[in-house]
Amino acid sequence: MTLHGKKILLGLTGGIAAYKAAELARLLVKAGAEVRAAMTDAATRFLAPTTLQALTGQPVWTDLWDARVRDAMGHIALSRDRELIAVAPASADFLAKAAAGLADDLLSALVLARRCPLLVAPAMNVEMWENPATQRNVERLRADGVLVAGPVAGDQACGETGMGRMLEPEALLAEIEAAFQPKLLAGKRVLVTAGPTEEPIDPVRVVTNRSSGKMGYAVARAAREAGAEVTLVSGPVALAAPWGVRRVPVRTAREMFEAVRENVGGCDVFFAVAAVADFRPRQPAQAKIKREGLGRLAIELEPNPDILAWVTAQQNAPFCVGFAAESENLSANAEAKRRKKGVPLLAANLAPQALGADDNEITLFDARGAHPLGRAPKLELARRLVAHVAALLPQAR
Ligand code: C5P
Repeated sequence: MTLHGKKILLGLTGGIAAYKAAELARLLVKAGAEVRAAMTDAATRFLAPTTLQALTGQPVWTDLWDARVRDAMGHIALSRDRELIAVAPASADFLAKAAAGLADDLLSALVLARRCPLLVAPAMNVEMWENPATQRNVERLRADGVLVAGPVAGDQACGETGMGRMLEPEALLAEIEAAFQPKLLAGKRVLVTAGPTEEPIDPVRVVTNRSSGKMGYAVARAAREAGAEVTLVSGPVALAAPWGVRRVPVRTAREMFEAVRENVGGCDVFFAVAAVADFRPRQPAQAKIKREGLGRLAIELEPNPDILAWVTAQQNAPFCVGFAAESENLSANAEAKRRKKGVPLLAANLAPQALGADDNEITLFDARGAHPLGRAPKLELARRLVAHVAALLPQAR
């Protein structure tokens, strides 16, 4: 329930992407939001108001002069208690009206009369999007503090290909969730490592571990939500990259090390969340190892580079956060590791329970002592971690 109790006004304007807004409404309700929908006349040509009414469980508003609203003050009453207005799809015409402050129908009037943040998800033909008039309007909206989510490039309903597709509902949900997070890392650059590494034994076999990457991906997402520009160096995992995060996929510890070296310059914070293999087979076989004729097989291992140690040793190193998966004696081991690794902050969790799970229990260790973050979903813990780091940053740099 990432949007538990949040009061959102979902606005729809005329565009074929309105069908995706029905799915967005469903996702918002599932995430716990209280969704009120308003549609322009053109939107009702693409999607029936009854569809949205069924999905949100609330009446859908289309008319500035709706007699159901007291004192004919619909444009004020319907937006006053809202915490966010999200307009998806936002047509070129709507963007122009919102940029100019026009209010000649219910939705544009609601938007003009709002007290809450506004997020728009543009959706239109590529030529309409690229038209200087639309670009000017979008710039103006951005300058007014409006959050512009998308569009993306791809196939369009008109048969053309190009910029102008509305974001998919899941991505829009992530943007809306992000809109509710404080921008604690605005203007900061963040590098995250996540997942396991794979160290080849032969062309088909690897040494790896059971890290799912979920904690690292949650940290990357939380940092992005907090306004940072995020690069995620990821070992092989079965997760989609968080929306808005640049992912650099790697397999081995040495590839991860290389990717970190290439991307760490200019970073403010480095979260080393990856479960990097400490050792790798010294001489991976060139061909698949055959069982026949082998009584036993010994694989000689050699150490991998310690990526976090390398980053902390750099001049101008970013603020470094280490992760420790301990299976016993959490406090003593974690504080010892923090000192050994020379990091200002170490996040410690009890390993076997956390691996692959959606929940985790983390305690932070810094120069002032231990700070238990409690047990919670990994994304929630990642947000608490980001808040802790943001509070330490001015002192550290
Ligand atoms: O020493 P240990 O492996 O427990 O330390 C864990 C921390 O160090 C994690 O933050 C992990 O991402 C990082 N690490 C690393 N490179 C390694 C091993 C660990 O960055 N080769």
